[in-house]
Amino acid sequence: MFPVMLKEFFLKNKFMKATAIAPSNIALIKYWGKKDEKLRLPANSSISINLSGLKTITTVEFSPKYEKDEVIIDQKENAKEGKRVSQHLDRIRKLAKISLRAKVISKNNFPKSSGLASSASGFAALTLAGAQAAGLNLSQKELTVLARLGSGSACRSIPDGFVEWRQGKDSQSSYAYSLFPTDYWDLSIITTLVESGEKKVSTSSGHQLAKTSHFFKTRLKKINDKIVLLKNFIKEKNFLAFGELVEKEALEMHAIMLTSTPSLIYWQPATIEVLKYIQNLREAGLPVYGTIDAGPHLYIICERKNEKELINKLKKVEAIKKVIINRPAPGARLVS
Ligand code: PMV
Repeated sequence: MFPVMLKEFFLKNKFMKATAIAPSNIALIKYWGKKDEKLRLPANSSISINLSGLKTITTVEFSPKYEKDEVIIDQKENAKEGKRVSQHLDRIRKLAKISLRAKVISKNNFPKSSGLASSASGFAALTLAGAQAAGLNLSQKELTVLARLGSGSACRSIPDGFVEWRQGKDSQSSYAYSLFPTDYWDLSIITTLVESGEKKVSTSSGHQLAKTSHFFKTRLKKINDKIVLLKNFIKEKNFLAFGELVEKEALEMHAIMLTSTPSLIYWQPATIEVLKYIQNLREAGLPVYGTIDAGPHLYIICERKNEKELINKLKKVEAIKKVIINRPAPGARLVS
């Protein structure tokens, strides 16, 4: 007990409070299904881009003045989310050998739990701010491992730009790292928000259904080849091959969802409408491709030179309620 108290004494007089900002990310090769539920080890490796327009900022303060963890997300307290945050703080407390309770204040600049990966940016920001506030000195790799335990895709929001999460064999070998820096390729990722509301089946529950689809095994057989191809297309900046692969991959993940038991349908009629719309744009000569996460919104990817034309076209689509323009972004950062 003595070393614990000593550490808390030192921390009390130094930094016990920290703020971090983290981007959401969009997966190009999706993480869907886990091979280890408790450790959140994914069934396959995945690749994503951090998004400049979708962010979470989180402050964590450990202090003797708190009798229990207090968690405020977007100005509200929510018991279920609070519990998950508190469990993540327990991981941080265990590593730092402290027992102090904490206050967590977190804000998203976009609607959470609607398929825009707020858990990715949320747990990345929480991990970085929490680790710093607890006085931990973790490497980027260690931070990604810790973030993964909170929410799988959160590990990809820690490194910069284009990121790969290696599935690994155990907790330490399942980590994320930057494949290419933020400014490697001038892409635009346009998030198109359609009518949705909070989603009924969380991704955590959705992952458990993946293995009930007969197609899941087939998907896993081919996924490493896809990853190799995608990395090459990014390296060569071969946009057409990249876009084809990314759009098909999103549809493949949704095919797994649709054929699970029970069937999981995150789409809305507007999702198909926007998907068909961009396929038509492509036929008319504008190189744009879409991807969809566990929600109804399309993320439309184009090269920066085509962004303006795409945005102008999207303004005419009634089903789209709002667009958010993203560029590849840096990963999680501490804020002073
Ligand atoms: O990290 P989770 O449990 O929210 O799962 C993310 C799942 C998808 O967003 C659908 C795909 C991905 O790789 O981000």
